Amino acid sequence: MVTMLSGYLLAVFGLCATALAIPSQIPFSSIENVRKIDTWALNPTGDAAVIRVKSGSQHELHLLAINAQFTVPSVLYDAANAQARYTFLDDQTILTATPESEGHEGVWDLTTQTLNYTTLPPAYPPSASKHNKLGEVTLGSDLKELVHSAQAGVLTVVLPENLVLIEVAQHEEGWTIKGEPRLVKHKELIYLFDLRDTSSSPVLLRHSTKSQLTSTAFGNGENIAWLADHRLWLSVGRDQGEVQLNFDLSPEKIVFSKDGEAIYLLAPHDDQQSLFHLWTPSKSETIPITPVRIPSNGTIHSAIHVGITPLDHAHLIGIKSDSAKGEGKELWVISHSPHEDPTYNYENIRLTYFT
Ligand SMILES: *[C@@H]1O[C@H](CO)[C@@H](O)[C@H](O)[C@H]1NC(C)=O
Ligand SMILES: *[C@@H]1O[C@H](CO)[C@@H](O)[C@H](O)[C@H]1NC(C)=O
Repeated sequence: MVTMLSGYLLAVFGLCATALAIPSQIPFSSIENVRKIDTWALNPTGDAAVIRVKSGSQHELHLLAINAQFTVPSVLYDAANAQARYTFLDDQTILTATPESEGHEGVWDLTTQTLNYTTLPPAYPPSASKHNKLGEVTLGSDLKELVHSAQAGVLTVVLPENLVLIEVAQHEEGWTIKGEPRLVKHKELIYLFDLRDTSSSPVLLRHSTKSQLTSTAFGNGENIAWLADHRLWLSVGRDQGEVQLNFDLSPEKIVFSKDGEAIYLLAPHDDQQSLFHLWTPSKSETIPITPVRIPSNGTIHSAIHVGITPLDHAHLIGIKSDSAKGEGKELWVISHSPHEDPTYNYENIRLTYFT
């Protein structure tokens, strides 16, 4: 899938990661009615989110302002379409893709809403404006992900085998779609696209029929990382190589820190899934690196690095669940000091308190 957009470039690959089995240590029936997040989107600053919550057979959309120092309760906005996908065009603009209900199979509506939120105490509950329709796009039925590249002004829709690139622009009256959507195929390869120049051909970064390429991620400058059969690879300009790790787990996903200096590997172990930290290696690094586990209880399903605090703690916001405690998937801040032993310098802060 598409993991991150840096500047004007987009790296994609073809094969899908297999879904992870969530350890279920308590009977299914008792966790079935737990409210859990089934999809979410974070704004670029990392201080507001839209979360779709599944509660029984119902789907609800909740709005959340985020301050890791104190709780801002989330607001139930409305019932939600179970297939819809969300992203942010800027900190205040939510973009929603929803399948059209009447007749037109495979046609999706793209709408924007303005989010009114604050994270300053006493924070008022966030609210959203009415939907403003941007347009309709034919996408088919299985929409995986929406990614917005702010610098290039391109919204990328990730489908199982294709990408649809849609140019979006902001005017005084709001956001609009420019030109026709462009379809791009992807499979077994990692391509680099220059989104500024949509007429240019993508550059082939990696082709592998032998190994499964997953989880492309952008770091700083020319750094692009991916997993080949669960092993970490790094590309810097024209150089590509496997990063030598002292690590016997199989990572599923790569998360780069916002400044590109650290890499987090999301890897399953002992009936749970955790984040493991390593500093982004330089080309000359020859000694195998030992990734350090960030303590957390339960399974981390996804995470986004949102920045480093003045006290030098790295903050990641992600979805976590602890089925041993009967918890559904909720939003957490996972923070740690990357310079000290994280066993003594970490915090997990729950963000979702449903109202
Ligand atoms: C945002 O919401 C607050 C609280 O309801 C309200 O006082 C404020 O006027 C709203 N701001 C805008 C720009 O609508
Ligand atoms: C994680 O679990 C251990 C033991 O079950 C407990 O002592 C610890 O406080 C938990 N940590 C968090 C962050 O919940």
